[in-house]
Amino acid sequence: MSRLVEQKAAAVSAARQEPAKIVHDVYSTGDQAALNSYYRDWAGAYDSDVVERMGYTAPSEAAEVLAEWLPGAGEAHVLDAGAGTGLVGEALKSLGFTRIDALDASQEMLDVAGSKGVYSRLIRAELGPDRLDLGDATYDGLICVGTFTFGHVKADAFDELLRILKPGGLFCFTHRTDVYADPSLGFERRQADLSADGAWELLFKSEARPYLPRVDPKIRYNTWLYRKASQPAANDALR
Ligand SMILES: C[S@@+](CC[C@H](N)C(=O)[O-])C[C@H]1O[C@@H](n2cnc3c(N)ncnc32)[C@H](O)[C@@H]1O
Repeated sequence: MSRLVEQKAAAVSAARQEPAKIVHDVYSTGDQAALNSYYRDWAGAYDSDVVERMGYTAPSEAAEVLAEWLPGAGEAHVLDAGAGTGLVGEALKSLGFTRIDALDASQEMLDVAGSKGVYSRLIRAELGPDRLDLGDATYDGLICVGTFTFGHVKADAFDELLRILKPGGLFCFTHRTDVYADPSLGFERRQADLSADGAWELLFKSEARPYLPRVDPKIRYNTWLYRKASQPAANDALR
């Protein structure tokens, strides 16, 4: 980021709400249009707010998990789903990944991500049950950090993400522990069903770590890593 952009972001950040209020507000905007508006206004100050004011480290921690398990970082084609301003892409690039696409619902967040020069392609699209304009089995790896969460993307996005992942491909994502356990979001149930159907297998689940330690050290999250089945699952309607 240029010095001018950094100064502007810091000024916007200082004039903004307290971090705890931002976290509350972004989880409760109500619908996708309102959420997109929130991120439109937040895009310039997002990095300094979450990294410096909130202590957010999930992007680099999840990127390290994917890098540890996905062979051939230089050749692997990876989608950063819910990429935001590109914190995950920056971490992946530092770990040797060179073929990273970014997908996000917010054009303004994607604009910041694009300015970092780490993504091959920027895709404005909404994750959910609807079909993405991406081919079957496009990616070797998917990574989704901080986006399967309250007021954002629910478990009904898993099937479509699995469709665009190659058989045997890896899917890394984070959840707050309270998000995973919330029945209204459907993660615990859907993740178990996909395992029972043989659509994917769990390779790794991290210990619960502080998510936004400068906001509330009690909030914890896990990084999850699944491998998509090499063969079609029992319930092939999934993919
Ligand atoms: C908390 S940010 C996380 C961004 C980034 N992964 C990170 O860790 O910094 C959540 C992101 O999800 C995006 N988002 C929200 N709903 C979405 C949807 N339905 N499809 C795609 N992206 C969405 C927002 O625009 C925002 O950029």
